[in-house]
Amino acid sequence: MGIPGKDPALSAIHVSIGFDRRLWREDLEGSRAHARMLAECGVLEPSELEAILRGLAEIEQELEAGTFPFREEYEDIHLNIERRLIERIGPVGGKLHTGRSRNDQVATDLRLWVRRRAAELDQRLLQLGTALLAQARAALARGDVLPLYTHLQRAQPVLLAHHLLAHLEALERDRGRLRDAAARAAECPLGAGAGAGSGFPIDPARTAELLGFARPCRNSLDAVAARDFALELLAALSILMVHLSRLAEELILWSSQEFGFVVLSERVTTGSSIMPQKRNPDGAELVRAKCGRVFGALQALLVALKGLPLAYNKDLQEDKPALFDAVETAELALAVMAATVREARFCSERMRAAVEARDGYANATELADYLAARGMPFRQAHAVVRELVERARAEGKRLEELGVERLQQLLGPRVGQDVLEALSVEAALARRAAPMGTAPERVREALAEAERRWGVG
Ligand code: ARG
Repeated sequence: MGIPGKDPALSAIHVSIGFDRRLWREDLEGSRAHARMLAECGVLEPSELEAILRGLAEIEQELEAGTFPFREEYEDIHLNIERRLIERIGPVGGKLHTGRSRNDQVATDLRLWVRRRAAELDQRLLQLGTALLAQARAALARGDVLPLYTHLQRAQPVLLAHHLLAHLEALERDRGRLRDAAARAAECPLGAGAGAGSGFPIDPARTAELLGFARPCRNSLDAVAARDFALELLAALSILMVHLSRLAEELILWSSQEFGFVVLSERVTTGSSIMPQKRNPDGAELVRAKCGRVFGALQALLVALKGLPLAYNKDLQEDKPALFDAVETAELALAVMAATVREARFCSERMRAAVEARDGYANATELADYLAARGMPFRQAHAVVRELVERARAEGKRLEELGVERLQQLLGPRVGQDVLEALSVEAALARRAAPMGTAPERVREALAEAERRWGVG
């Protein structure tokens, strides 16, 4: 175990094969492209290229089959694969590393990995978005309403579909951030060597093209030193986790007996070992908690990079545990939230009861708007309705239960016979018909547009 001749502690801190083995696909891909480019540039003989590609194909089979011998004495995935290549095809395998260093190799592998994983995370986001869209469509068909909350106080009626689409907006920006991060990672470091560039007549643009990068890096020092592409992915994932935690938190609150707005599936909840009636929202709770790991990974890499001199320093190896853990955590959180949303059952009556609650006065704004629409300055309307609410509360009545005559008497002649109708939930919803509002017609349009943007439905 460890590296022969080294202190075990040095081995323990230095050997990275335990985590960077995740890069084996990218390492093989990068090596193939590098070897092809070398052959095209006349640095490798065709027969040498052929031997190297054959050896790499055999190694790929071993890795796929799980029979590849990972060895700590070879430190990392790059040396493990290179040593195995030489074992299989002989000394010609040693030519693969011509015009390359592990510094540009690892930077290339990690960029390829970031690009692949960003695309996979995008698919997970699509699954969660699809689940939200399906719930929104069903909620709209049922006409589900619930209170809009501000300060966690009941404020105004909104459609549940509108609320769910709000979460979708945040997730759509998360997809954009992942796409941006992947696009900026699309420069290929191969050819930078240890950091000064290559002395061989190589063609970095060709390597970049073979690997599907947009272009090679422009500066060899930057090529091996830069990790802001990893920071960007971690920042995007941190923001994504914030959004998942807000969705999780609402489902936790809403599934409590106090709210009772939603019942979460047995498949994403657990029972208590002593209280038979319980259905605990563990999945959502753990998503809420796992944010910390992802934020921590961003922090760890920021700190590792801060003040680090150019170009390659071993500190850069520490980018990987943070990045790998954050990506795997976000991926799991997305899967849990997709399952949770997909199987959630919303309780229409409980949500409507909260909107129409006697002590909620969710239609107070409606009455102020009613007066304002009939010429009373809104500030004044707000003040008189506030007083009215206090009076109604003291009498234990809803605003509409005061009756047209009392409303006229208390609020003046602007109040007409149509006032009670204006105070209904349906009227309140229908009035919010300006762009981005919760009126059913706006939400129907918003839903259709969202389904089109997400390629769903
Ligand atoms: N395992 C190393 C890393 O992840 C690879 C690069 C090592 N380069 C070096 N000059 N020691 O950063």
